[in-house]
Amino acid sequence: SGFMSHDLYLHGFFSASIKLPSDYTAGIVVAFYMSNGDMYERNHDEIDFEFLGNIRGKEWRVQTNVYGNGSTSVGREERYTLWFDPAEEFHRYSILWTEDQIIFYVDDVPIREINRTAAMKRDFPSKPMSLYATIWDASTWATNGGKYKVDYRYAPYVAQFSDLVLHGCAVDPIERSRKCDDISLIDGSIPSGITPSQRIKMANYRKKYLTYSYCYDKARYKTPPSECILDSQEADRLKKFDPVTFGGGRRHHGRRHHHRGTTKNAKASI
Ligand SMILES: *[C@@H]1O[C@H](CO)[C@@H](O)[C@H](O)[C@H]1NC(C)=O
Ligand SMILES: *[C@@H]1O[C@H](CO)[C@@H](O)[C@H](O)[C@H]1NC(C)=O
Repeated sequence: SGFMSHDLYLHGFFSASIKLPSDYTAGIVVAFYMSNGDMYERNHDEIDFEFLGNIRGKEWRVQTNVYGNGSTSVGREERYTLWFDPAEEFHRYSILWTEDQIIFYVDDVPIREINRTAAMKRDFPSKPMSLYATIWDASTWATNGGKYKVDYRYAPYVAQFSDLVLHGCAVDPIERSRKCDDISLIDGSIPSGITPSQRIKMANYRKKYLTYSYCYDKARYKTPPSECILDSQEADRLKKFDPVTFGGGRRHHGRRHHHRGTTKNAKASI
């Protein structure tokens, strides 16, 4: 189940307050993401927040990832836990996407920054995308590599979204016109990068809550992708976590029912 933006955007700031389903949520994934997989089957772009459910009493995990121009053979996943229970109340999750940078935020804390580097080349998302929110059954991988499946005795699983922000450059999908190079011109309140004090918060957050980074996953990448900046302390910290399994084959759309509309609040459930 889910919803998507009617418009496609090239760069912008996208945000929602989200409350996740509570209780037993193993196998459930709630995703808040940008994609153009419907238009570009072989060379799509994607920027993801994915929330991975858990067995009762165990915390939700958050995963972020990006693909550029069909670079799905290189997953750039990171995983984290949170400093609060995301099923208890609404918290804000945001994506800032510019020509050179992608920043993921939880509330006002930037949790991940991806710079477009020469090494990343085409793997940096660069084509217009729609914004999506979905909830789906990922029993095969979401919780302990598929050990715990969705238990529909606990259905419906409801994810609530409110205060949606879509401050992006809406583009014509064919002409690709109206590209805006300076996102701050859309709305003065859009962050233009990470401030020094936010940078400290980000470092503290990552020290405490980062549980997985593809950069240190030797089973997947003998040589880490070239944009990785390795840090021996971080490597040591991440050693204590179990190896991680990924979903692979995209994607979370089931059959489509199209409804036009505008909304500030929405629910998606399975
Ligand atoms: C991204 O670029 C900024 C500005 O040059 C730099 O301060 C920051 O460390 C870079 N971040 C990453 C993750 O490479
Ligand atoms: C993206 O991939 C397609 C097909 O693989 C290729 O033709 C195109 O040049 C690539 N575009 C960019 C911007 O890299």
